[in-house]
Amino acid sequence: MCPACASCVCCVSCVSSACPACAVSVTHVLCHMCCVCHTCAVCHTRALSHTCSVCHTHNRPAGTPVTRVTAGDPDEGEAGRLRYAMAALFDSRSDALFAVDPVTGAVTTAAPLDRESKSTHVFRVTATDHGTPRRSAMATLTVTVSDANDHDPVFEQPEYRESVRENLEVGYEVLTVRATDGDAGPNANVLYRLLNAGGANEVFEIDPRSGVIRTRGPVDREAVEAFELLVEATDQGQEPGPRSATATVRIAVEDDNDNAPQFSEKRYVAQVPEDVAPNSAVLRVTATDRDKGSNALVHYSIVSGNTRGHFYIDAQTGALDVVSPLDYEVSKEFTLRIRAQDGGRPPLSNISGLVTVQVLDVNDNAPIFVSTPFQATVLENVPVGYSVIHVQAIDADSGDNGRLVYTLLETGSGGGLISLALPLDYKLERQYLLTIAASDGTRQDTAQDLIAGGWGGRT
Ligand SMILES: *[C@@H]1O[C@H](CO)[C@@H](O)[C@H](O)[C@H]1NC(C)=O
Repeated sequence: MCPACASCVCCVSCVSSACPACAVSVTHVLCHMCCVCHTCAVCHTRALSHTCSVCHTHNRPAGTPVTRVTAGDPDEGEAGRLRYAMAALFDSRSDALFAVDPVTGAVTTAAPLDRESKSTHVFRVTATDHGTPRRSAMATLTVTVSDANDHDPVFEQPEYRESVRENLEVGYEVLTVRATDGDAGPNANVLYRLLNAGGANEVFEIDPRSGVIRTRGPVDREAVEAFELLVEATDQGQEPGPRSATATVRIAVEDDNDNAPQFSEKRYVAQVPEDVAPNSAVLRVTATDRDKGSNALVHYSIVSGNTRGHFYIDAQTGALDVVSPLDYEVSKEFTLRIRAQDGGRPPLSNISGLVTVQVLDVNDNAPIFVSTPFQATVLENVPVGYSVIHVQAIDADSGDNGRLVYTLLETGSGGGLISLALPLDYKLERQYLLTIAASDGTRQDTAQDLIAGGWGGRT
């Protein structure tokens, strides 16, 4: 329908084509409205309505062709020679950015464009003939500036920090990163990925679309205490290509009391002489805990085996002392069970610490003759070498400390068997009083032995 005269016969034809200046297909729609109308003076020119998408960007120079507007005038000579002009319809900023050649109708850019400051420019294009009176036609030209991917994605923060507990369930959402992009469409469509997803960082993953960082494996502080993920945001731009930005995500792992103390030895063994002075150190047990802080603070105690309370353990240091006198002759060995407990809430303990204290014998017991005094009667005529009496002493000590040597004082030593060394003569000597000593090397006991001679019938 002719906008000026309802009785005119008009036809509209539109042609689509791809923008030659862009690699991407940007559609031109070129529509001609031709009105053939001799009775209606206003419509002597052919009007055109024209919409074009151009992909000029701010780095394209001024003078880049945009489109060409044409009008027709069936009049001859000056009355049919047209002059084109163009004026911004809504925003006068557009006037400085585009120009139309008055003779050819070629529209070019007058300055570099920036879609982000203004993406659509609308003009009224006028074609005026040189006849008298001058007649003109008007059309609207809409120039849509296509987006060029000229903006990097920008993260809301260059660095993100988060702390998480260890032993999180898989799929736990740690945090969300977000990057924005000043472009439009795919040029602003940001996808995320982890640049350093290997190794220890494998326990995390990022959702490419939402930027949500989740756990995909167990997080163990004792294995890795702090993570540093490098996240990249890449837009999907094609013209001239995708652009990306990176941000750092630091994740600190908080400790859970998930480790019990571990003793440094399966069994500790110490040897102490029985005469050790009270409050002497025996040994030190140690247990380590892989957790942190109070979860790793170990306290020691004796669970069992401390009969008669001979031992004391320092709760903090694990130092084991003897606190009351030991007696090898009473107890030769102690087996103490030690607990190491950490300071977690709740605490974890290990009660498998074993300490064996072997008491060493000291020669602290003297030999003692049993059933003294000894008495024996012997006939005068018994042969030399005859066993007269067996004396015996005992020593509570062990080993060499209890090995006794008997001595007939002033006559030599022997094994406690007194035998006849020379013939006896009842008529000369009726009885003998012997002194015997039993010695363990250090200490000794003495006993008297009365040997009475008996008449053997010798003459
Ligand atoms: C206790 O410590 C020992 C090391 O001495 C270790 O073998 C054991 O597994 C620990 N027990 C617990 C419950 O962790």
